[in-house]
Amino acid sequence: MPEAILEMKNVTKSFGKRRSVRVLDHADFALEQNRITALMGVSGSGKSTLARLLLMLDTCDEGEILYRGRPVNMAKRRESLAFHRRVQYISQRPESFFDPMYRLRSSVMEAARIHRLEPAKASDRLSQLLEQVKINEAVLDRYPYQVSGGEIQRVALCRALLPEPDVLILDECTSMLDVSVQAQILNLLRDLQKEWNLTYLFIAHDIEVVRWFTDRAVLLSEGKIREMNLHNADGSLFGCG
Ligand SMILES: Nc1ncnc2c1ncn2[C@@H]1O[C@H](COP(=O)(O)OP(=O)(O)O)[C@@H](O)[C@H]1O
Ligand SMILES: [Mg+2]
Repeated sequence: MPEAILEMKNVTKSFGKRRSVRVLDHADFALEQNRITALMGVSGSGKSTLARLLLMLDTCDEGEILYRGRPVNMAKRRESLAFHRRVQYISQRPESFFDPMYRLRSSVMEAARIHRLEPAKASDRLSQLLEQVKINEAVLDRYPYQVSGGEIQRVALCRALLPEPDVLILDECTSMLDVSVQAQILNLLRDLQKEWNLTYLFIAHDIEVVRWFTDRAVLLSEGKIREMNLHNADGSLFGCG
């Protein structure tokens, strides 16, 4: 049994007046260490909500989130800082995470400051990461509107990897890119995962991409998580349940 690095246990989350819209309903899910797990589900099924809960950017109505087998006490500054370094997020719209008024380098170094990384060390690691994601250092002197979708996603990856995380939550991170760029980014993500021993939660809706990229997939439907069988010949989402 692979070790769980990030887990949700019996989690319920609702929105709206009197919490009338239930997005997660006593859901259980464990992200296994050093593996790529896909999270699938139709639009609006609650994938991003689940991601935000795992990232501890939102709170559960019921249930709990465990990191390496224990709850994280967000009231403790050190614990919460360490958690937010360890578990990073890449979104579908990376440009919304970069301030349009600042050059990319400033945004990246601001993230390093928030994570309280030593500036010289962060700078060194950034150079190493840029090389790995195949981005010329000069790109960082541009503003967000001066780079392509693929380039900004690569810079977003560098920023996320700067604090040496062990988990990346990739929320439809290639869905805005055209097919050839998407393939490049997915290949890059694979290399990074191996090199840095990362654990991924790969949120996606394309079954072919999921089949190729991941070794396990779960489906979020009606507030619950179910295992999927990726080897179903017809590509249907429903597995062993
Ligand atoms: N902060 C919020 N306030 C109210 N409703 C929300 C909020 N966040 C998400 N929702 C609702 O929860 C449901 C699930 O949304 P989301 O997690 O974004 O789904 P997905 O990522 O699978 O498309 C949607 O109906 C959405 O409108
Ligand atoms: Mg979403």
